[in-house]
Amino acid sequence: MEKPDVEFVSFLKSYPTYPTTHLIDDLRATEYARLDLGGHVYLDYTGGGLYAESQLRRHNKLLAEHVFGNPHSSNPTSHAATQLVEHAREYVLKFFNADPDEYLVVFTSNASGALKLVGESYPFARGRYLLTFDNHNSVNGIREFAHARGAKVTYIPVALPDMRADESGLRRELTQPAKSGHNLFAYPAQSNFSSVQHPLEWIEEAHKHGWDVLLDAAAFVPTSKLDLSEVKPDFVPVSFYKMFGYPTGLGALIARKPALAKLQRPWFAGGTITVASVQGDKFYMADGSSAFEDGTVDYLNIPAIEIGLKYIESIGYAVIHERVHCLTGWLLDNLTALKHNNGANLVRVYGPTSTEGRGGAVTVNFYDQDGNTLDHRFIEEQANQANISLRTGCFCNPGAGEVALEISRVELDVCFTSPGHEDRLSIDDFRTCIDGKSTGAVRISVGMVTNFKDVQKFLAFAKSLLQ
Ligand SMILES: Cc1ncc(COP(=O)(O)O)c(C=O)c1O
Repeated sequence: MEKPDVEFVSFLKSYPTYPTTHLIDDLRATEYARLDLGGHVYLDYTGGGLYAESQLRRHNKLLAEHVFGNPHSSNPTSHAATQLVEHAREYVLKFFNADPDEYLVVFTSNASGALKLVGESYPFARGRYLLTFDNHNSVNGIREFAHARGAKVTYIPVALPDMRADESGLRRELTQPAKSGHNLFAYPAQSNFSSVQHPLEWIEEAHKHGWDVLLDAAAFVPTSKLDLSEVKPDFVPVSFYKMFGYPTGLGALIARKPALAKLQRPWFAGGTITVASVQGDKFYMADGSSAFEDGTVDYLNIPAIEIGLKYIESIGYAVIHERVHCLTGWLLDNLTALKHNNGANLVRVYGPTSTEGRGGAVTVNFYDQDGNTLDHRFIEEQANQANISLRTGCFCNPGAGEVALEISRVELDVCFTSPGHEDRLSIDDFRTCIDGKSTGAVRISVGMVTNFKDVQKFLAFAKSLLQ
């Protein structure tokens, strides 16, 4: 008989609910066998989720057995495609428990595509754009549209060690919307840097003061349920590959109808109008989602969204969430306990070190026994050699990165205004500018299909860095 793994026994003592998630171990063997066959330790779920083999089979069968044509035509094959696309649209609303009288779904190429739709169309003139330091660059990028239209842009800081936002500062700003313009407040339901889950209560609070709320749910929904009958953000961007791995190239903007009606698109395209005239120099926008879907939607892949959502439902968020909670807890407990011979810590965690109010990504830097940072690129190289897939850098979240790595506003100003850096700045120039401080960190993200062995292998790798 195989000897029980003492580490697993001790894990179960600390996290006794883990066995309730055994369904995922069964699926790991049947749906994700490629992970273990290839000796992979996949820990980049915030980067991208993994698909189950059955999702591919179902999608392939659908394509093999039917003929689908361009939904903009009006013939039997195009009707068949339209039916599936519309069904998938309804299914997205059902999945997020959104009332179809209140919300609608616009298909986009990813979460960034959804964010750009809001940014380029939001009536920012004389208004405000309020956002947390902790945001993906595709949310930060909206500030360029806001600046161009004369809106006031304000950032709410987050603070070490937990990287949670300054709530009193936020409340103060929320009570001061611009009176003569529209006001948009944007934040992530879960940080892709620190994995902090920022409070969903902010949505209601912002609404009370007349703000529209953009809740970036891209990193939240892969392992946590978002119920749009309980919270009512105006704009919710998601990327489907982050939830269930396949297909890539599809996301959605889930939007409240009154908020969507405020958006003014900067152009029209095939499919977004009812009538457009060349001689009359006039166009009329289509209603609803059509006005925001430029050209032909990805009608062969959109049906795979419904397959993916049903797959998640077959497991259930309760199980996924519990699994991620147990494994993240164990990872945090053990990683933070690792010490060099002289007692110095191996890692520093950027974000909460308990599982309270956070998701499954753990972002750290590694240090030698004298407290010098081990470059994140070195850690990545070493992890690659052990076939461990993780993510390093700033993960497109510079605000959280600057706070975590203690890079000051003054340092950044000096860097960006120094001669030669008007238009171009390489990452090496940037490193020199900030006096050799670390420009990134290491993100280990636990997800739906992670098992105890993945975490154990990662911890063994981390121990190999001890001196
Ligand atoms: C919180 C968050 N928002 C937005 C995005 C952008 O997603 P995409 O690259 O799929 O457009 C990401 C991607 O990592 C993310 O983590």
